[in-house]
Amino acid sequence: MSLVEQRARALAERYSMKEVRIPVLERTQLYQRSTGETSDIVEKQMYTFADRDEGETVVALRPEGTPGVVRAYIEAGLDRTEPEQRLFYSGAMFRRERPQKGRYRQFFQFGIEVFGRPDAACDAEVLIMADELCRGLKVPFSMEINSIGDQKCRPAFREALVQWGRAHWDELCGDCHNRIDRNPLRLLDCKIDAKLTESAPSSLDHLCDECRIHFETVKELLSAANVQFVVNPRMVRGLDYYTRTAFEVMAGGLGAQSTVVAGGRYDGLVEAMGGAAVAGIGFAIGVDRMALAMQAAGLAPSAPPDAAIIAMGPAATRHAIAVARDLRAANLYVEMLSPERKMKTLLARAAKIGARFAVIIGDNEIARGVVQVRDLKQSTQREVAQAEAARAIAEAPGE
Ligand code: HAM
Repeated sequence: MSLVEQRARALAERYSMKEVRIPVLERTQLYQRSTGETSDIVEKQMYTFADRDEGETVVALRPEGTPGVVRAYIEAGLDRTEPEQRLFYSGAMFRRERPQKGRYRQFFQFGIEVFGRPDAACDAEVLIMADELCRGLKVPFSMEINSIGDQKCRPAFREALVQWGRAHWDELCGDCHNRIDRNPLRLLDCKIDAKLTESAPSSLDHLCDECRIHFETVKELLSAANVQFVVNPRMVRGLDYYTRTAFEVMAGGLGAQSTVVAGGRYDGLVEAMGGAAVAGIGFAIGVDRMALAMQAAGLAPSAPPDAAIIAMGPAATRHAIAVARDLRAANLYVEMLSPERKMKTLLARAAKIGARFAVIIGDNEIARGVVQVRDLKQSTQREVAQAEAARAIAEAPGE
């Protein structure tokens, strides 16, 4: 498992979330009704085909996780029996793309979805989690947030965009001509007309009182938690189900595919999919992109071992196996190196795999019940009792 996924999973568990497993194959209709008929995902990117069952059911390889989670949540009756749920999922998603760096036809997402919490504190908690994850992975990143309103105030904003689009018809690109009637919010994230749309209406100027107060509270809570963010009133997200808070996290070094985490609130979705009127909010991490961002920042995309075990000779090998077991039982990552190589080669190997420590055991150490713990970063070595090795490594100060 990649370090990104490992960290995300551990973090989700600390945020009291439970794993949900969603199918790779779903009815195409599920995405048409949730992600949206006019989204790029449904319009162009979904791998969809007729099954060979009696009804020739049209099915799709999942392009994203949220609709499947919502469907499973409703099917399990949770919207009525226990609406407040905190879930996470992870797996391959599929979109028809022109593959390039950071954009693949099969890619991995780690996502979280929280149901039954319409309050701004929940938005803040979800965004703080995304921030915490990126900080933990040490990638340089920036977070952009916006509010795109709700069913009450969005129609007026939509109309304002349509009016603006019609007034600027001659200056807009062909794609934007189509967007005006089908999905005017998408005018705002057109790459071709980016300069022109700077003068387009902003969602923030059209928020109703409830949405405005909600957004103000989210910002206030994020600032109180020391989360750095920028308000980007032009960020609308390409999926149809969002309401109120939308956000994206960008990481450097990835060029055009810089968005590594994206998500937002989708308060009307559960109801639109046939469930009760339950609020929802979540995000998905692009695991592959996040790993690329780490690589670009010179960080290892998988966790290096804490210790490499070096046994000198057959008797030491038996002891080394026991020491490795003790260290792993103390939650340390351990790799046992081949006992059939020379010390110099083994130390080079330990450094190559990025181990922080080498634990060296020879006949002399066995006789005295000790091991040599060599700090490979600081090139220091000390002798500790075999039973103390795990503690010496676990409690070593950071690099
Ligand atoms: P999304 O913005 O479509 O949102 O995708 C989330 C992330 O998945 C993107 O920011 C990106 O990092 C990654 N991603 C998307 N497409 C590709 C690709 N072709 N290759 C590599 N990485 C990619 C969603 O999917 C929503 N379900 C997020 C969400 C969860 N909103 C609420 N809950």
